[in-house]
Amino acid sequence: MTVTPLDPRSLPPWAGELTSLRHDEPTGTWSVIAVHSTRLGPAVGGTRAMVYPSLPAAVADARRLAGAMTLKVAVAGLPMGGGKSVLALPAARHRLDDATWRRALEVHARHIELLRGTYWTGPDIGTDTADMDVLRRHTTYAFGRAEADGGSGTSAEATAVGVVAAVRAAAREAGHPGLAGLRILVQGLGAVGMRVARAMAAAGARLLVADVDPARVAMAVGLAAAVEVVAPEEVVRTPCDVLVPCAVGGLIDARVARTLPAGAVVGGANNVLADDEAADVLAARGAVVAPDFVANAGGAIHLVGREVLGWSAERVRERAEAIEGTLAEIFADARARGVGSVRAALERAERSLTVEPAA
Ligand code: NAI
Ligand code: PHE
Repeated sequence: MTVTPLDPRSLPPWAGELTSLRHDEPTGTWSVIAVHSTRLGPAVGGTRAMVYPSLPAAVADARRLAGAMTLKVAVAGLPMGGGKSVLALPAARHRLDDATWRRALEVHARHIELLRGTYWTGPDIGTDTADMDVLRRHTTYAFGRAEADGGSGTSAEATAVGVVAAVRAAAREAGHPGLAGLRILVQGLGAVGMRVARAMAAAGARLLVADVDPARVAMAVGLAAAVEVVAPEEVVRTPCDVLVPCAVGGLIDARVARTLPAGAVVGGANNVLADDEAADVLAARGAVVAPDFVANAGGAIHLVGREVLGWSAERVRERAEAIEGTLAEIFADARARGVGSVRAALERAERSLTVEPAA
């Protein structure tokens, strides 16, 4: 990573509460914590571990993702705020030896601990339940450990339940009574995407899949009799009824939005839309958009529900399924007021954020 001076004026504007940075010389890792809002409770959001081109890029990513977490937990009705953290690594995780990775996690955990519960973390891209176990040895404020280690286990199942519920809502809004026979393209066949793809196949959809990892594609091809494989670079040019991005964010900018041949987009990944204009372009073209901060809230519902609020697995599932109804309300509100669904969802989040939190 190129170390460039961190001039705050060079970063995109951000209305968050705190950004904290810690550098670990021996591993060459930056731990970046962004607390966007504690208005409704302590900030929650996963730890993303990856290589960034520069420190400002890592800070900007943490801040953007933290903002999305504030919206996510507000719309999901959880008594928490939004944050995110980033471990900006010197090399891809699979190239780091175990000792380096472990030390990077320990440094990150101590950094989180210094904030004394203002920010709680969990898994995100590049970290998993086993990493949460390592973090938890050095900080109280990490959830998402494996069940065997005393945590609530993977959040991907609940995330997928919510994303599937969102696909149902979006398909209905686009004029399809059910999923059977619809062309549904799932991009990214990891923990969330593979589960979503399986559910789409089970619902009788015509499944299209894309992943940069051929092993994941091979696995998905076995999910139904006629699965269509799409090259990763063709995802935004492939006609489909519903596109479900479940890889990394930033897939659709305004330019892509102008020609995207999808009837609906359901955000599994965080920050699927790369810029604000993309939402307007899609709305103007009549594409249905299920905003990611609504559609993918199942993971947050699982982690906070199980580990903070003491909910049962059944209650978590019900709340993740309820995303279908929340989206139906957002779509109806958007239609009634002639605004895009992203705008309607943002306003719904803002309404939750202006309500006094319960004492
Ligand atoms: P994962 O790491 O298990 O899966 C990601 C998949 O995307 C991998 O199979 C990878 O090979 C593939 N991929 C990466 N770049 C790609 C590209 N350019 N084109 C096609 N495929 C590509 O991650 P997971 O847990 O499934 O999460 C997926 C997304 O959903 C992430 O953006 C994550 O932040 C988001 N998310 C995950 C939640 C969870 O509970 N796991 C909750 C909310 C959001
Ligand atoms: N990283 C996931 C998300 O973006 C799951 C998560 C939720 C992790 C809340 C920590 C806290 O929703």
